[in-house]
Amino acid sequence: MLNIAIAGLGIVGAGVVRLLRQNAELIAARAGQPVAIKAVSGRDKNKKRDCDLSSVDWIDDPRKLASMPGIDVVIELIGGAEGVAREVAENALKAGKHLVTANKALLAAHGVALARMAESNKVQLSFEAAVAGGIPIIKTMREGLAGNRVVSVQGILNGTCNYILTRMGEAGLSFEEALREAQQRGYTEADPSADIDGHDTANKLALLAALAFGAEPDLASVQIEGIRRITPLDLQFAHDLDCRVKLLGVARLTSAGLEQHVGPTLVPQTSPLAQIDGALNAVLVRGDFAGDLMLEGAGAGAEPTASAVVADIIDLARGHRVPAFGVPAAQLKKLTPAHATYTARYYMRMQVMDKPGVVADISAILRDEAISIESLLQRGKSATESVPVVITTHGANAKSMRKAVDKIAGLATIVERPCLLQIED
Ligand SMILES: NC(=O)c1ccc[n+]([C@@H]2O[C@H](COP(=O)([O-])OP(=O)(O)OC[C@H]3O[C@@H](n4cnc5c(N)ncnc54)[C@H](OP(=O)(O)O)[C@@H]3O)[C@@H](O)[C@H]2O)c1
Repeated sequence: MLNIAIAGLGIVGAGVVRLLRQNAELIAARAGQPVAIKAVSGRDKNKKRDCDLSSVDWIDDPRKLASMPGIDVVIELIGGAEGVAREVAENALKAGKHLVTANKALLAAHGVALARMAESNKVQLSFEAAVAGGIPIIKTMREGLAGNRVVSVQGILNGTCNYILTRMGEAGLSFEEALREAQQRGYTEADPSADIDGHDTANKLALLAALAFGAEPDLASVQIEGIRRITPLDLQFAHDLDCRVKLLGVARLTSAGLEQHVGPTLVPQTSPLAQIDGALNAVLVRGDFAGDLMLEGAGAGAEPTASAVVADIIDLARGHRVPAFGVPAAQLKKLTPAHATYTARYYMRMQVMDKPGVVADISAILRDEAISIESLLQRGKSATESVPVVITTHGANAKSMRKAVDKIAGLATIVERPCLLQIED
């Protein structure tokens, strides 16, 4: 019998309880032993929960779950990089209990310390549910691709943003309208900023990059841009360029170091990532021997996330033990961030005054930064005497591109700061 304690009985916690009860027999058969929920904890004991908690002990303080006698595994499903969730996790590992968590914020911030703690106490730290919900991407990268040198990992890792961008593209909704629709469908948190400003994707990308390159998660060097500035016009221009706009997290190791960025990105229609619509997630990994591999599925929600948590529990019951990030924590490298030294193709949308010489001024700035123009698109005259103009570039240095945007934003004929998106090939 594997005895577990669950801290946090919200969307995911209740889903885990339901799954363990509903599929108890097959889980016991696959795990080689029954899995028993011994204790649970949340903030409010009297709250009505969407799961059966009969014959389970309620513990008021989740930090005390680890010290209960007979508990083998603590499942942390509270959330947040600090506070109670962190204490629950640390207490569990220090007490010699295995820890399963869905908490990307905690792992992106303290993953290495927790992995060290797990190793020194000879227990497992597992986090399949922390990235892309029901998609088994952690196991795939840590185990299935273990023999590969990973070249790059790219992902649509936030269902809320993907839903918003999909609706803006297919129905011409403004960002605000699409956000409201996502909220009505229950896809967003009460405060949607972590999703739409890219921070949720950044947490997940930092974990994927750590697994891909055997490195410590380095959240601080992820360059992050959200989707607030995207307009339906960008989706139309992207369409004209045979692309789709996706909030992409990209990590790759180049001679310049570790490149990690999150931002709305033009993805060619021919890329499998361009076909991922609505609230779905997808991760595309390129291994030197496996080649390209894409996994897609539900990136959030009670059932898919519970599926990932329970997969970790079954692995533990089977006695499967692996270093949390694929190699022992002491061997994780500290990679030099590539920051803005990498090269990429860009899409730049500008709202310009419809006057002679404007395009010449923009071209001169780009020429001075050694950026060459690939195409220039313009859409009709507007009543406000300013028109949208889009320039796409050939490969350009990221730092030079940002410098050019600053200079272009300062031109008297430019109405608002240009909107800059990377183009992924
Ligand atoms: N929701 C998803 O689709 C999803 C997907 C992947 C990963 N995750 C991750 O899974 C974790 C849980 O997410 P969730 O969506 O299930 O969150 P949630 O619905 O807000 O549930 C959080 C739970 O934690 C409890 N809690 C909060 N503060 C507490 C405290 N100080 N002491 C004791 N209990 C406390 C709450 O108790 P009460 O119920 O009593 O208020 C609630 O049961 C997070 O790390 C999240 O990032 C979520």
